[in-house]
Amino acid sequence: MFQNILPIIRSILQLFEKFLLLFKVVLIRATPYLNRKRKLDMSYRAWDFNRYSSLELCAYEINDKNIQGSVAELGVFQGDFAAKINELFPNRKLYLFDTFEGFEIKDIKIDSEKGHRTQGHNVDFSKTSEEAVLKKMLFVKNCEIRKGYFPDTVNGLEDTFAFVSIDADLYKPIYEGLCYFYPRLSVGGYIFVHDYNNLLFTGAKDAVRQFSIEKGVNYFPLSDDGGTAIFAR
Ligand SMILES: C[S@@+](CC[C@H](N)C(=O)[O-])C[C@H]1O[C@@H](n2cnc3c(N)ncnc32)[C@H](O)[C@@H]1O
Repeated sequence: MFQNILPIIRSILQLFEKFLLLFKVVLIRATPYLNRKRKLDMSYRAWDFNRYSSLELCAYEINDKNIQGSVAELGVFQGDFAAKINELFPNRKLYLFDTFEGFEIKDIKIDSEKGHRTQGHNVDFSKTSEEAVLKKMLFVKNCEIRKGYFPDTVNGLEDTFAFVSIDADLYKPIYEGLCYFYPRLSVGGYIFVHDYNNLLFTGAKDAVRQFSIEKGVNYFPLSDDGGTAIFAR
């Protein structure tokens, strides 16, 4: 009986997949042969599955291999991705870099002069606060807020890093973020740069390519919602 309806189910699924493709949405399997329980609750970010799933895999590698270093996010906004980093690295310090007041005009000016787009979905990035972000953190004691203009906010910081997320949208902070964090990244660590393949913030690709050429280091273009570039050491 089941043998007979299997081809029908498969055909219906294929039709459904074709329909989803019209909206550039695909169905993928979530690494079914991994043989371990994943820390991957996708209930609130299913549309960005690849980025969250890749973060979880990288965190597992770092923790399992005992790669030394703190973790950080540059560009925190309301702390959604930072909260996931915090959860996946329960025994590591998490630095949270943001103005918590949105973009700096001088950074936007640089992108405009370079001919880059600086408008995403008209999100107001000043609609956040340190308190609201910290409320989302499972291991709040691990968090250190570095509020203000990056890279000024690294003053006095002496640390190395195992994982860094750079999600600042604009050319200048992304380029400065790579210049600061890459030399301090432990061997075995990763840097995720969000928006590398995002036409709404074209300065991100420019910053990643500029850094990559200058330093002679390569990156992997992840097939996720924002088009993240991943540097590994
Ligand atoms: C796209 S949002 C980050 C989204 C966040 N990662 C999430 O999970 O939702 C970009 C953030 O980068 C911050 N940012 C951009 N340039 C900055 C700079 N030079 N210094 C500090 N923060 C900056 C903005 O304030 C904004 O909150």
